[in-house]
Amino acid sequence: MHAERRRRFLETMGRNAVAILIGARPARRSADTDYPFRQDSDFHYLTGFDHPNAIAVLRTDGGPSLTLFVEPRDPEAETWTGYRPGVEGACRDYGADEAHAGHAFLEMLPKLLEGAGRVHHVLGRDAEIDAKLVATLEEFRLRSRRGIVPAETIVDPRAVLHEMRLFKEPGELDIMRQAAAITAEAHREAARVARGGSFEYELEAALGYTFRRRGATGPAYPSIVGGGRNATILHYVTNDQKLEDGSLVLIDAGCELRGYASDVTRTYPVGGSFQGPARAVYEVVLAAQEASLEAARPGATLPQVHEASVRVLTEGLVELGLLEGDPAELVAREAYRPYYMHQTSHWLGLDVHDVGNYSVDGEPRRLEPGMVFTVEPGLYVPADDAGAETRFRGIGVRIEDDVVVTAEGHENLTAAIPKHPEDVEAWMR
Ligand code: GLY
Ligand code: MN
Ligand code: MN
Repeated sequence: MHAERRRRFLETMGRNAVAILIGARPARRSADTDYPFRQDSDFHYLTGFDHPNAIAVLRTDGGPSLTLFVEPRDPEAETWTGYRPGVEGACRDYGADEAHAGHAFLEMLPKLLEGAGRVHHVLGRDAEIDAKLVATLEEFRLRSRRGIVPAETIVDPRAVLHEMRLFKEPGELDIMRQAAAITAEAHREAARVARGGSFEYELEAALGYTFRRRGATGPAYPSIVGGGRNATILHYVTNDQKLEDGSLVLIDAGCELRGYASDVTRTYPVGGSFQGPARAVYEVVLAAQEASLEAARPGATLPQVHEASVRVLTEGLVELGLLEGDPAELVAREAYRPYYMHQTSHWLGLDVHDVGNYSVDGEPRRLEPGMVFTVEPGLYVPADDAGAETRFRGIGVRIEDDVVVTAEGHENLTAAIPKHPEDVEAWMR
């Protein structure tokens, strides 16, 4: 899988090219404690080598096509921080043609760059490597009379890599389906706890517990559990307030499984039944989400998916009395924005806001089979919105699914998580 991706990546590099990819470094949380290690997504995509402080060099000039620089085996360090594949493991288990200890990288860089006409490298990640790279190319220039020609161009490899990552392989889709199944179970466990008097963190704990119990790494992004007016804060992650019967609780949570994110929002009625203005707002968002899903098919664009939501949300806002006027005219002047301020979709994959260009030649790109994205309209009535009827203030609703474009339309990866009011209510019972 990784070897096949490297083959495709190498094909695009052209002859006499060298690519340098830098893996993630440990990140300090506080004092002497690090965050749990997470490999850089591009590095993982091409190598599957999920250990800290690694560097990969790919080349098309006839030398070894994959050289890995890794932390060498060290029994004493491994007693503290765990197994390292080391130099031998890098070749044996990760398909490296050659491997070296990481500390040899800077010293070996001139040798690695000799003869390369193009260098694929992300500038700005590591100042020391950038400086050595630039100094080496300068040195080659000074020695050019002796036949050493410095590379003419430094190319950002992400353009190609991110285009590759945008189109998911069948194996990636299998993982994303499994991630969706785990996320579905986690939402059900959290919804069970959504009663008056429960705290938001109890729902967050049910999500996290289910993710881990089913073998996922954990949440793909900090879980959002917003009860009542907290649902109107888009990235609310404090999750420490008490839920009230008759209100709503918005849960935006998805697991990361083998590197892949799921990203699902449901808005549940605390106590188990949708009531009054909350139900009315909910039904508008649900209709908008269904309209957007309808638009999610090959040949369409994400702005079209977004426009479908905007149209239905704006009509709904007029019916609810939150906006006044002709819906088409309100859409034209974006009058919905105080209540719907974000986009409807983003790419999804190894990163929750995944890579891939949203436009091509200045035009929104057309959807093609294998692309995965979210569909997540919402309505958020600020608690202090003097222009809104009191009964609507502080209501926030979002409904988010993950879809993959297919030849015929799309597959909704997260369809198993109920969203029709009766289904949600039955599920919660
Ligand atoms: N959970 C972040 C998002 O929905 O985009
Ligand atoms: Mn989300
Ligand atoms: Mn999302």
